[in-house]
Amino acid sequence: MEVNQTSFPKKLYSCWHPVGYSDEILKDSPFGTFLLDEAIVLWRTSDGKAHAMKDLCIHRGTALSLGWIKDNCIICPYHAWRYDKHGKCILIPQAPNSKIPSKAKTPIYNCIEKYGIVWVAINKPTYNLPRIDEFNNKQWQFINTGPFKWDSDSSRQVENFTDFGHFPWVHPGLLGDPKRPLVPECKVIVKGSVLHYSIVRPEASNTDDFPIFANDKIVKPERRSVYELHLPYTILLRLGWGDKEGMIYFFASQPISKNKCRGYCIVGRNYNHDEPETVIQEFEKVIFDQDKRIVESQRPQQVPFDLAEELHLKFDSVAMNYRRTMKKEKLYY
Ligand code: FES
Ligand SMILES: [Fe+2]
Repeated sequence: MEVNQTSFPKKLYSCWHPVGYSDEILKDSPFGTFLLDEAIVLWRTSDGKAHAMKDLCIHRGTALSLGWIKDNCIICPYHAWRYDKHGKCILIPQAPNSKIPSKAKTPIYNCIEKYGIVWVAINKPTYNLPRIDEFNNKQWQFINTGPFKWDSDSSRQVENFTDFGHFPWVHPGLLGDPKRPLVPECKVIVKGSVLHYSIVRPEASNTDDFPIFANDKIVKPERRSVYELHLPYTILLRLGWGDKEGMIYFFASQPISKNKCRGYCIVGRNYNHDEPETVIQEFEKVIFDQDKRIVESQRPQQVPFDLAEELHLKFDSVAMNYRRTMKKEKLYY
C-alpha cells in the first residue's frame, strides 16, 4: 500500500532508511521506532526474517510494538488480536468463530537486512544501497558504533559527516590540529544520486587513549579518504595511509522526524583485530558527542537546500553539491 503523506517529499518514502542495528531486533520481542513520523514496528518470524509494519492495531489504535510474538505472529497488547507477517489479522480472541473483517489488517513496509542493519522503505525503493564488498571478507572486521540519536534533521547529521573544515576546531587532537586549519582541494563528481569525492589531509597522530589509526609508523601522518555520499543520508568512506591497512566508515542516518534522527556508524578495519571493539566504540562516542552539540544548535534544523541561504566558500564544495543534488532529486522539503 502506498503511503500518501505531505509532510516530507514523496520520494523520501521511496528510499531505504536504517531503522535499527540487526542485534536490536530480537527474536522474541517487537521493536518500535519512527521513520518520517510514521510509527513502525519491527519483529522477526521464527526463520529469523525481519518484518516491518505500521505500529498500530486497527481495533483501538494501540502500538503493536508493546505486544508480543507467538507462532510467527505479532500480538496486540490490548485485546490480543493476532497479525501475521502480511499484516493480516488472523485471530480475534473475543470472536473466535466469526469471520474476520477484511479491514482487520495493518500496512506492511519493504524491509531488508544488510550490513548488520535493518532497512525499511515505506514505499517501493528507488535507489540501491551502496556495495561494500569488504563486508563478507574475513580480513575485515566490522564494529557497530552508536547509534547516535540527535535532535536535528538527518540532512544536518549527514552534512556534518562530510564537513572537513570543522575537524581542527571540534575534534582537536583527535581528527585535526588547529595549527592546520586549511581544507585540502576536493573535487566532487556527481553520478545520479551519488556524490564521489576524495581528499588527502594531514591528520593528528594516534592518541594513547584511542590508538585506532594505522598511522603509527608514519612521521607525518596523511590520511587518504575516498567518499561516496549516497543520497539522501548514507555515506561510505574508505580511508588509508598509503599502505595496505585500511578503514571503512559506513554511516547512515534514520530520519525519525523533522528534528530527530538516529545515526548508525559501522567501522571496518583490516588490521588490529585483537584490539577490543570498545576502543573504537568509545572513540566514536567522543567524536559524535563533540559534533552533536554543534549540530543540534544549527538553525534551521534541516539543511537549507536553497544555495542562497547560508554562506558557501570554495572549501564547502561537498555541501554545495549535496544541496544541489538533493534538490535535483526532489529529496528535500
Ligand atoms: S487495540 Fe489491539 S486488539 Fe484491541
Ligand atoms: Fe565532526
